[in-house]
Amino acid sequence: MKTIPTVARSSGLLLTMRRLNAILRPLNFMEERRRKYGDFYQLQSKNSPPSVVTSNPQAIEDIFTASPDCFEVGKGNTNLKFLVGDNSLLLLDGKEHKHRRRLLMPSFHGESLQECSQNIVNITKKVSDRLPINKPFKVRSIMQEITLRVILSVVFGIDSGAKYDRLRELLTRLLDIFNTPLNSSLILFTSLQKDLGAFSPWGRFLILKEEIRYLIYKEIKERRELLASGESKHRDIFSLLLSAKDEDGEGMTDAELHDELLTLLFAGHETTASALAWLFYWIYYLPEVREKLLFELDSLGKNSDYKEINNLPYLDAAISETLRIFPIVTGTFARRIVKPISVMGYYFEPKTLLLISIYSLHHREDLYPNSKQFQPARFLNKNYSPYEYIPFGGGNRRCLGAALALLEMKLVTATILSSFELDLIKKQPIKPVRRGLTMAPPPSLTMVVKNKIQ
Ligand code: HEM
Repeated sequence: MKTIPTVARSSGLLLTMRRLNAILRPLNFMEERRRKYGDFYQLQSKNSPPSVVTSNPQAIEDIFTASPDCFEVGKGNTNLKFLVGDNSLLLLDGKEHKHRRRLLMPSFHGESLQECSQNIVNITKKVSDRLPINKPFKVRSIMQEITLRVILSVVFGIDSGAKYDRLRELLTRLLDIFNTPLNSSLILFTSLQKDLGAFSPWGRFLILKEEIRYLIYKEIKERRELLASGESKHRDIFSLLLSAKDEDGEGMTDAELHDELLTLLFAGHETTASALAWLFYWIYYLPEVREKLLFELDSLGKNSDYKEINNLPYLDAAISETLRIFPIVTGTFARRIVKPISVMGYYFEPKTLLLISIYSLHHREDLYPNSKQFQPARFLNKNYSPYEYIPFGGGNRRCLGAALALLEMKLVTATILSSFELDLIKKQPIKPVRRGLTMAPPPSLTMVVKNKIQ
């Protein structure tokens, strides 16, 4: 069996520089590497096992279709522990991971998902109705308010009241700490996670995290009491998790519940908010995209239902292109090999890390000609395989909320476009900026309501 050659070795200062480069200018970093080393190469750093980086569809297919037993993923996600705790789905592997996914999956698919539609539209109307005419607003903040309210209603079954207002405020403030590239490095360099008081980013983070923890534990206690008294009428994910039992008939502990709820709240709104902000940027930056979308929305009858919006081809293509050109998450979770496997005919030893670059895959000129141009039509003319187009990753770790995110993007867009005439304050090219582990449009992206459509 062939073994893959190592193309770059780094240690000490070089390794730190490489990591800084990856944090501060991730897209350039990935492009340079792809140009220099191709789409399947191995890196070696001193004192750590080798990493293989790929953006080759065949390699991605081999990885996504290999038995999940070949990899550990959760144990490699320890850098997320500070945010979601030890018991999050993101940190699980093996049987535990499979069991937790099986428990959660139905809530994010089929009928349960369709039931969210009315809620998504109501929340969008409630938030967007407050937008004043002719006064600039920050696109990402508005989208974040919508997506946070949606995920709260999906997970907790409710999105209003003082308790939820406080939780929403705390979650938003906590995530906003990481909206600069510098503060984002707190996530990747644990040595920077020092509590230097309430005015330091990490100190602020700890205070907010503690208050969120207190509120969630309080809610768990109240819901457990309701459930025990038979008075619980909730049909949300929280209630599902509260009544879930493992193979030995044991329910989830408070700590497990807390970590899973936080995971869903964080994973479920940050990403979708950035994706929606990008989509609105493209719609108002490129007039032909806006015209085609408005034409398609106009073609819907007065009594059209949410399923029809969900099936609109151009809206779907515009969203696909949004998630292609600047994927919100630029690489999948790292897969650490635990059983020897072969990828593209190359043999890999246990401990090797497999890293898939979503951004580099989405900019392959052989798959996406003129890849830097925003062209929704490419998704109307071709069906890409789940190894050529992967904004939500794949295999047994594929994003749990992909269907919810897509439905939400469609309903929010259709609702706002049908109610407002908007415009960008500055029509100019913009570049993604790091926001924690994701890449988002710059926080300064601003729009204005020119008119409300009656
Ligand atoms: C546009 C929005 C979103 C994008 C681009 C996105 C992207 C991703 C990616 C790339 C992964 C890693 C997959 C892999 O390594 O193969 C992931 C995992 C995950 N996502 Fe999303 N996501 C989005 C929205 C959501 C939503 C709405 C939820 C709702 C709860 C969610 C929950 C999760 C969870 C729980 C995982 C971990 C799955 C596991 O480890 O088994 N995401 N997402």
